[in-house]
Amino acid sequence: MSLPEAFKDELRARVPLSDIIGKRMKLVRAGHEYKGCCPFHKEKTPSFTVNDQKGFYHCFGCGAHGDSIGFLMNHDNMSFMDAVEQLASLAGMQVPKSSPADEQRYKKQSGLYDLMEAAAKYFEQQLHDQKNKKILQYLKERGLSSDVIKSFRLGYAPDGDADDLQKSLLGAGFKTGDLLDAGLFKNSSRKQGDIYPFFRNRVIFPVLDVQGRVVAFGGRVLPAAYGGPPKNGTSGKDAPKYINSPESVIFHKGRGLYGLSRARKALGGGKVAVVVEGYMDVIALAQAGFKAPVAPLGTALTEEQIEALWKAMPEDNRTPILCFDGDAAGQRAAARAMERVLPILKPDHSVKFAFLPEEHDPDSLIKAEGRGAMERVLKNAIPLFDMIWQECARGRDMAQPEVKAGFRAALTRRARNISDLSVQKFFINEINQRIDGAFLARKTSTGAPAKKAYARGKPVTPGLNTPYRPDSVKAQPVKSRKSRQIDRMRVLLGLMISYPALYDEFGESLGMLPMADTEYDNIRQALINLLDTHNNLDYQAVKQHLSESGYGKILENIFNDALYLHAGFIKPGQTLELARQAWQDVWNIGFRGAKTA
Ligand code: UTP
Ligand code: MN
Repeated sequence: MSLPEAFKDELRARVPLSDIIGKRMKLVRAGHEYKGCCPFHKEKTPSFTVNDQKGFYHCFGCGAHGDSIGFLMNHDNMSFMDAVEQLASLAGMQVPKSSPADEQRYKKQSGLYDLMEAAAKYFEQQLHDQKNKKILQYLKERGLSSDVIKSFRLGYAPDGDADDLQKSLLGAGFKTGDLLDAGLFKNSSRKQGDIYPFFRNRVIFPVLDVQGRVVAFGGRVLPAAYGGPPKNGTSGKDAPKYINSPESVIFHKGRGLYGLSRARKALGGGKVAVVVEGYMDVIALAQAGFKAPVAPLGTALTEEQIEALWKAMPEDNRTPILCFDGDAAGQRAAARAMERVLPILKPDHSVKFAFLPEEHDPDSLIKAEGRGAMERVLKNAIPLFDMIWQECARGRDMAQPEVKAGFRAALTRRARNISDLSVQKFFINEINQRIDGAFLARKTSTGAPAKKAYARGKPVTPGLNTPYRPDSVKAQPVKSRKSRQIDRMRVLLGLMISYPALYDEFGESLGMLPMADTEYDNIRQALINLLDTHNNLDYQAVKQHLSESGYGKILENIFNDALYLHAGFIKPGQTLELARQAWQDVWNIGFRGAKTA
């Protein structure tokens, strides 16, 4: 929601900035300003100033700068609206609702927060109800302590008939429409007007936003021994182990992180963020005493999530550790995460990469070998630069001079993806220095051995034994660069239309795709609008929507026979995994690092 400037000015004018900041740290009057030790970086002599007349704070040490709203957002980690509301209440002012539509959305949102909170309470009660003691026993036998169960607010959603959630929520005054919008219930296809609960006979993991409000739930199936469905159940298929609430006006998968609200204090105090795969890993780490474990929700880590972590950490130490499986899939996931951070790197902002032993996730590792094993994994985390080095070295036989040249080019290409020019410059310097140290001067001019280029003492010649992995999609040399680019756009658009489920993970990159062709650009926009507002469409529905909106001709063009011939993987009906892989291959070859739209 955007607010009128005049309102913000009035807010700043009514609440002296030094009041707000002075409540949170020691300020000393200095002439017409106040001074203190900057809360955003470590310092012994004060270089942080607060000016009530101007309504701004400024730190001459680290450059931190902002107004009262900014201070609350950065210092107390508040959202913009929460900061505004807090200030408004101090000032005795009403936050204006900028338009009826905004107001309605705002109302709707606060209603949904209350609804989710009520549902979370219900699930918690159920878990601790005597009649469901078997479920609690399951968690206890997985090694979870009562404290951890409480602190993560774990719960239980009973099976269909035993479920009073609907009654309890409607009784509390919530409306059926909200139960549906929140994703707690679904419309029955059997009887018009009937709804049924989305989570049935599952352990419930409430998902909180940064401010600690319940915005979604994850539900884990129970093992058969604890009353869960039998293997290869009635339909012949296993029930999915985990299901998550669909996106809603208050829940956006790629935005929040599981565990973040809980970890925030520790993060602010300098504890390192550890990013793991999911619910149980976060909980296992927390139980083992790690202070700031977090996880994305069923998708790869997004830029937004990395930014959220950085923001929660102290300004001079923003390097979360990303944990990956030790197998090839884990390596690939790490490489993708690396590509994703490069463009958003900033001074003093980075990530590290930790790899688990092949057979373990954090939960099982801690169970099998104790906390120390996990600590070692984290201690061995690889800095970003070394990770890039390793990735580029993979599969290159460095004995050949032209391969070394290619290696340098590959490293430089990665570094050029860093948008922050000062960071980019240091990366490129580092690349040149390390390469020269590793490959060139073996002896100095005086005949003495050259200094080890790799100051940290790690081996330098990388990847000698890693197999060469050819690109899986071959470029076609007879076509022009532009027409190949257009072919790839068609493939990506075709993939997204055939597999709308890819949108969650790749919607953002679809949006950034440079589109040389306006017709493709239009259908891309229509597709994004459609998938943004509709969950769970299948490709039939997507195609129908698009052709009804006047994109029939361009659709035909995308799905013409020649395309199927060259890119059979676009055909609907393949596995989603294959489609994902295809997307990534085409993206990596055609667009990674390209100027985006
Ligand atoms: P696991 O498959 O190991 O889940 O997933 P689990 O509940 O620990 O199952 P078992 O008992 O070992 O068979 C690895 C991690 O990924 C999370 C899990 O919670 C766990 O942290 N996860 C898995 C999700 O968050 N969402 C999913 O859809 C699947
Ligand atoms: Mn597990």
